[in-house]
Amino acid sequence: MYSLVVLASLLLPGIANAQYTMVKEYIGEHFFDDWSFYNNFDNLTNGDAFFVSASDASKDKLAFVNNAGNAIMQVDNFTNVDFNTKRNSIRITSNDQYTVGSLWIADIMHVPYGCSVWPAWWASAPNWPDGGEIDTLEGVNQVTMSHMALHTSPGCMQSNTSVETSKLVNTTDCSTAVNNNEGCTVTNPGPTYGPEFAAGGGGVFVTEFAAKGISIWYFNRTNIPKSIQGNASSVDTSTLGTPVANWASDGCKITEFFEPQQLVFDITLCGDFAGNDAIFQQTCSGICYEDFVLGPPSYYDTAYFEVSYVRVYGLPGELTVIGSGAPRSADIVGMLSLLVGVVAALLLTW
Ligand SMILES: *[C@@H]1O[C@H](CO)[C@@H](O)[C@H](O)[C@H]1NC(C)=O
Ligand SMILES: *[C@@H]1O[C@H](CO)[C@@H](O)[C@H](O)[C@H]1NC(C)=O
Ligand SMILES: *[C@@H]1O[C@H](CO)[C@@H](O)[C@H](O)[C@H]1NC(C)=O
Ligand SMILES: *[C@@H]1O[C@H](CO)[C@@H](O)[C@H](O)[C@H]1NC(C)=O
Ligand SMILES: *[C@@H]1O[C@H](CO)[C@@H](O)[C@H](O)[C@H]1NC(C)=O
Ligand SMILES: *[C@@H]1O[C@H](CO)[C@@H](O)[C@H](O)[C@H]1NC(C)=O
Repeated sequence: MYSLVVLASLLLPGIANAQYTMVKEYIGEHFFDDWSFYNNFDNLTNGDAFFVSASDASKDKLAFVNNAGNAIMQVDNFTNVDFNTKRNSIRITSNDQYTVGSLWIADIMHVPYGCSVWPAWWASAPNWPDGGEIDTLEGVNQVTMSHMALHTSPGCMQSNTSVETSKLVNTTDCSTAVNNNEGCTVTNPGPTYGPEFAAGGGGVFVTEFAAKGISIWYFNRTNIPKSIQGNASSVDTSTLGTPVANWASDGCKITEFFEPQQLVFDITLCGDFAGNDAIFQQTCSGICYEDFVLGPPSYYDTAYFEVSYVRVYGLPGELTVIGSGAPRSADIVGMLSLLVGVVAALLLTW
């Protein structure tokens, strides 16, 4: 019975069941070391946010590492904003790009929420929409469930062979050219956004970017699998169970629609999604910009990410990291740490 189940999952078209090795870690006081801060107003989604520079983020404490060692990224909640001005916020993009054959894990304790707030934890190719976008966590205003999505050029669909636990499939065409660029969206059931998510201590999101398909797992604080607890140097996705969302390659040829991805955290305000009046009125009332962005700064006291770590893994032996420096493979990283270990051991014995 057990072996039949294992066999069946091995044969599933969209599930990679692969083993990955750590290639990059964003954590603790070094969390912000290898990201670029946008330093421009939101000219991408028409949001009422200005994404500050690294130096302003640090000076105004909009991006910092707290006493618990977690990264905080937040909307300005201390400035009265004048009409026709945007409120300061954060958008950071990883300097490294990660190829097909990568997996990233984010341990998130708190996501930004509240009327007008639109955060996301996602990834995209540098020349968006060419090269695709993978959204692991996105929510708006006062919804209680976040959603996951792919956005691509035309021709990528979520096929009915995709194997996932969520029953909340919103749309299956990933093309940015249809459905007002909603992408192929799957809702993450349960408290996966807002105050209840935070009250439960948040959870861990695993995103697998594999040739056989893209998969996302979500584990709340109490059900994180042993295999990814602590500082796991490798991850075997066959230990994670069925993903909450999956896009199998038979409906969307991953290697054709996706190019190397850069990781992104951002929080915008209002704009095309949160500020769309029909969406806004579902969980809030009033006028997004006038009543909230221009309103009391304390509306934004809950508009922050608290992230314990982001770790990226790659298929062993493959060049999965396109760095700001030279390409790196898991083997090279492994060899470097071995070398460091050998040198350390030599120094110790010496
Ligand atoms: C947004 O602003 C940045 C920085 O000025 C610029 O490089 C980029 O081309 C702009 N993007 C769009 C879509 O206007
Ligand atoms: C799955 O999709 C294929 C191709 O689009 C279609 O022929 C088939 O009927 C679908 N199966 C189910 C169960 O919907
Ligand atoms: C997706 O569907 C769920 C469940 O029906 C719904 O609650 C949610 O609002 C929908 N999300 C979007 C972005 O349309
Ligand atoms: C975590 O998920 C499990 C089941 O998946 C559920 O029983 C439990 O109540 C959840 N815990 C929190 C803190 O949400
Ligand atoms: C986690 O493990 C990796 C190697 O597997 C190591 O390079 C890194 O320093 C560790 N991180 C922490 C925070 O201990
Ligand atoms: C802004 O929000 C943060 C997070 O909730 C909070 O710690 C801080 O005290 C708030 N700042 C002000 C000026 O109220």
